[in-house]
Amino acid sequence: AETVNIRNFCIIAHIDHGKSTLADRLIQKADIVEDRYFKDQILDNMDIERERGITIKSQAVAIPYTASDGKEYLLNLVDTPGHVDFTYEVSRAINSCEGALLLVDATQGVQAQTLSNMYLALEHDLEIIPVINKIDMAAADIPGAKQQIERDLGLNPEDALLVSAKQGTGIDELFEAIVTRIPAPSGDSSAPLQALIFDCHYDPYRGVVVHLRIFQGRVRKGMKIRFMSNNSEYEVETAGVFKLALVEQDELSAGSVGYIIAGIKTVGDVRVGDTVTDADRPCDTPLPGFREVKPVVFSSIYPVDSNDYEELRSSLEKLKLNDASLVYEKDSSAALGFGFRCGFLGLLHLEVIQERLEREFDQSIIFTAPSVKYRIQLKTGESIMVDNPTEYPDEGKIESAEEPYIRASIITPTTYLGNIMTLCMEKRGVQTNMTYLDEKRVELVYDMPLAEVLFDFYDRLKSISRGYASFDYDITDYKSTELVKLDILLNGKAVDALSQLVYKGNAYERARVVCERLKDEIPRQQFKIPIQGSIGSHVIARETVNALRKDVLAKCYGGDISRKRKLLEKQKEGKKRMKMVGDVELPQSAFLAVLKTK
Ligand code: GTP
Repeated sequence: AETVNIRNFCIIAHIDHGKSTLADRLIQKADIVEDRYFKDQILDNMDIERERGITIKSQAVAIPYTASDGKEYLLNLVDTPGHVDFTYEVSRAINSCEGALLLVDATQGVQAQTLSNMYLALEHDLEIIPVINKIDMAAADIPGAKQQIERDLGLNPEDALLVSAKQGTGIDELFEAIVTRIPAPSGDSSAPLQALIFDCHYDPYRGVVVHLRIFQGRVRKGMKIRFMSNNSEYEVETAGVFKLALVEQDELSAGSVGYIIAGIKTVGDVRVGDTVTDADRPCDTPLPGFREVKPVVFSSIYPVDSNDYEELRSSLEKLKLNDASLVYEKDSSAALGFGFRCGFLGLLHLEVIQERLEREFDQSIIFTAPSVKYRIQLKTGESIMVDNPTEYPDEGKIESAEEPYIRASIITPTTYLGNIMTLCMEKRGVQTNMTYLDEKRVELVYDMPLAEVLFDFYDRLKSISRGYASFDYDITDYKSTELVKLDILLNGKAVDALSQLVYKGNAYERARVVCERLKDEIPRQQFKIPIQGSIGSHVIARETVNALRKDVLAKCYGGDISRKRKLLEKQKEGKKRMKMVGDVELPQSAFLAVLKTK
């Protein structure tokens, strides 16, 4: 296609405002997929994404469209994820577009991520088209949404389009707006190649598929390309565009969005945000926007059955093929044996990996309490980074400690203001700003330790605001803190996998809650099991699991045999999920229980 007939755009929105539903509607209207093959939410192609209704990986699709001016256009839709953990994926998708549809749910209005995503789009000079979605709903407040678009976003409410992604209302007008308002990409196809990698995925049959936006020049089969971040070179095997399936083309020229396959072994060899150029005629400078994503949350994974270690390793290897942001290394625990220390982009990322390991790879696994990475200043003058409680130095060797902080932005109806401020204070937040967006809504900004958000901040924010408060965060910097290592002892023995690094002021409360929870999770055994929380040799909390009294089978003694067998089988099933730690049987759920605070 001619550059003038190309439009590159993305859809940005707060979570659940209907991004995937709208994307589906655009694809469906464009008639590139037969209805009988049409699955809901085609762009969210991972099962977990579909089940949870959240978009994680960016995807792209080229939609052919004949506009009312009679011309054929090619509309490249780059999908973006909606959750806070994946802001980076939003920014690279935005980098490859000229325009953005900013979706606002007519029943919810402007939310925290609506704002943060709009700022990202503005930073990259994108043409923003405000779109009010879900107008079919009884609770839709269109004048209210328009007012917020004007006041909170500073956009012209007259420009807002009204759609129902679900029912397909307003979709034709939306297509016309994309063609007329979003500028065509510019770029010189005869210049040296300059292309941005905005994503990549692993295809079991073709290897690594690199998703590209071509800014200058062209790329074609047989060409020798170079990645500018590390000067690695490859030969292009195929180039093409995304039409749900990969469709090969002779070449991709300036302005296009497409893919190349070039004999690249793993997604780890590709850096998203990197610039691809012609090895024989390289461009002068890389495109802006390359930033390495770093994991911020760490946790160890162990197989429930130690014999499954190799299988767990191969499962992680397979996950890593498609998720370069997952990092892991070998780890071992006295209590749980061999496992892996893993780094994640956030808690949701951790949960996604956990679910994929369990569901797609059928692994029975234990995750230890997630931790942030602390900076510890030793008395020797050396400074070390620690995310694993087992690597925490002796108290006596530590001079001081620092922990990562976030800038949290919360938008809430004023009704819940008091409760939310209390919650933030409890989470050691310091308010840095408060802005009334209108009479009924406030934006709060807090500096808060990331570690506090890891536990139950998000769930509690949702519950105290009846789901109305929204939340977004950026990691800012390290600030001084007071840390202790909380150990948990079962039957007098410390279980290393249950240790946590905690803020000193929270240690007693955390110890008490963990002991209480473990008491509920650990089944009674033939002997009494004391559960203790301690800092060093100082015990700060204690609970006891009493000894088992009655034989479980006694109840149906003499009763019918099938009931007895069922009971035994149930016990056996339960055993599989148990881990022997010393002489105590610890269920898998005990490890999850210690993650919850209240
Ligand atoms: P993430 O992918 O997690 O960012 O969410 P999303 O923004 O893609 O939201 P999604 O498309 O999954 O829609 C969220 C919910 O809103 C789903 O239950 C949709 O069926 C519903 N929904 C989306 N658009 C409309 C609409 O126009 N009308 C109504 N009534 N419901 C809608």
